[in-house]
Amino acid sequence: MDSTAHIVTTAKGTGVELDLTVNGESHQLIVKPGDTLLSVLRHTLGLTGTKESCGRGECGACTVLIGDRPVMSCMLLAVEVDSQVTTIEGLTDRSLDLRESFAQAYGFQCGFCTSGQIVRAEALFMRATPGSLHRHDVAEALSGNICRCTGYTQIVTAVELCARRRGLWANEDTP
Ligand code: FES
Ligand code: FES
Repeated sequence: MDSTAHIVTTAKGTGVELDLTVNGESHQLIVKPGDTLLSVLRHTLGLTGTKESCGRGECGACTVLIGDRPVMSCMLLAVEVDSQVTTIEGLTDRSLDLRESFAQAYGFQCGFCTSGQIVRAEALFMRATPGSLHRHDVAEALSGNICRCTGYTQIVTAVELCARRRGLWANEDTP
């Protein structure tokens, strides 16, 4: 476990002491027991790249990685986090080509859902072996991430474009 939680009383009151590793940086925090990971990321740590939309696990805008697993951070209490957290900020270098693919394929309009889509796509890439991905894999992986601008076709195309560049696309689909 990369995070541990203990109840403490400080001058500010009683809270939960939490060691949380985010994007490779260790943070010692005092949080409320009911604080979501999303709230701690955005309001305590200032990592506003992770977006809040529905706040109830329906849209995927708040997706982050716990270890290599994509999770909706609005649905997880900060004290429940059991591994390192990676947000869109922590994927800046790794996702450069993916973000370029989004721009090339017009994979965003307002961009509000884009962080979550990129985190989710990176999670798919992390699990994929060379030459293994098909369009239906991408569509399925992104199926929990809602785009209110409805740019789904372009989003899937953007992820496909990047997967091809990374050698992850199935050979029979290569033109
Ligand atoms: S804000 Fe978390 S799923 Fe919508
Ligand atoms: S680009 Fe606007 S919500 Fe997806």
